[in-house]
Amino acid sequence: MASQDRIAYGEGMRAISFSEFGGPDVLALADLPVPDPGPGQVRVAVRAAGVNPADWKIRSGTFPMPTQLPAVLGFEVAGVVDAVGPGVAGPAPGDEVFGNATGGYAEFALSPVDGLADKPAGLSWADAASLPVAVATAHRVLGLLECKPGQTLLVMGAAGAVGAAAVQLARVDGATVIGTGSPESQEVIAALGAVATTYGDGLADRVRALAPDGVDAVFDASGFGALPDAVALRGGTDRIVTIADPAAADLGVTFSSGGPGPRPIGAYLQFAERLASGEFRLPAAARTFPLAEAAAAHAESEHGHRRGKVVLVI
Ligand SMILES: NC(=O)c1ccc[n+]([C@@H]2O[C@H](COP(=O)([O-])OP(=O)(O)OC[C@H]3O[C@@H](n4cnc5c(N)ncnc54)[C@H](OP(=O)(O)O)[C@@H]3O)[C@@H](O)[C@H]2O)c1
Repeated sequence: MASQDRIAYGEGMRAISFSEFGGPDVLALADLPVPDPGPGQVRVAVRAAGVNPADWKIRSGTFPMPTQLPAVLGFEVAGVVDAVGPGVAGPAPGDEVFGNATGGYAEFALSPVDGLADKPAGLSWADAASLPVAVATAHRVLGLLECKPGQTLLVMGAAGAVGAAAVQLARVDGATVIGTGSPESQEVIAALGAVATTYGDGLADRVRALAPDGVDAVFDASGFGALPDAVALRGGTDRIVTIADPAAADLGVTFSSGGPGPRPIGAYLQFAERLASGEFRLPAAARTFPLAEAAAAHAESEHGHRRGKVVLVI
C-alpha cells in the first residue's frame, strides 16, 4: 500500500547516481524510477541520508567490494514509510522511521523491515539519519571486545561517528574509556565521557600514563596506522578490533566488517532516545547538504578531520 506522500519529479524520483568510479564530480542528479518494495522490504520517503566514508570509498573505486554501475549510494536514512512489500507487518505508511537502506541518496529508498526503528519525535531527521551505521558498528565491535564494567577500553578515533558512539555505549556498560583524537577533538572526546588524548607519535606512552594498569581492550575506529601501538599496549593481538586498518591482516589483528544480517534495532532505538533526551550527544551537529549537492557532501566527508556527520537532506 502506498501513501500519497510523494515529491513529484517527472515520472520518477530524484536520486544521485554515478556511472563511473572517480572523484566527487561523478555523482550526478538523475531521474530514476521509484523502487518497489519486495518481500521483507519497506519503501521510505527519505528526509535525510547519512554520508559514510564507505560511500566515497565505493565511489572512488577503492572499496574492496564489487559495485555494479550505475549505482545509488546511501546505506542509512531517516524518513516516512511510504509503502511496504508483500507480507510485511509492522511499519505502516506514515510512520516516521530511521535505519539501514540501499539507495538512500534519493527521494525514495528501500529498507529491510528488520533494519528500521521508530524515530523519536524529539530527534531531527538529520541526527536520526546519522545513527544506524555508527551505532550498528559500535554495537557489533563492543560485543566482540566484551568489556566488563570497570575495565578500560581504548577507542582510537573517538571523535568520529563510530568512535563517539562506541565511547558512549561503552560508558553505559560501565567501562572506563580512553579516546584518541586530534588536538582540536580533545574537548569533544572529554564531553562524550572519555579520557582524551591525542593520536600520533608517543601514543602508547601517553596511554600508559593514563592507564598504568594497562588497557583491557582496543577499538580502532579510525584505521590510521596505530595498530602497532595497540599491540604494544595489549602485549599481543588479543581483544583488539579494527574496522578500517588494512594492516590488520599482517599484524594478526581482528578486522570487523559489516554486512547483511540482523540489525541491532534495540540499540538504534536506545541510542536515539538517549540522544533525544540529551543523555547522549553527537560529536558535533550534522553538516547538511541538499541532495543535489552530494558531490560537495562527499568532498566534506573525505576531509576526515571535521567532527559531525555529513548528511544529505531532501
Ligand atoms: N568495518 C566496518 O563495518 C565499518 C563501519 C563504519 C565505518 N568504517 C570505517 O571506519 C572509519 C571511521 O568511520 P566514521 O564514520 O567514524 O568516520 P568519521 O566520522 O569521518 O571519523 C573519522 C575519525 O578519524 C579520526 N582520524 C583522522 N586522522 C586520524 C589519525 N591519523 N589517527 C587517528 N584518528 C584519526 C578523526 O579524528 P579527528 O577529527 O580528531 O582528527 C575522525 O574522528 C572509516 O574508515 C570508515 O570507512 C568501517
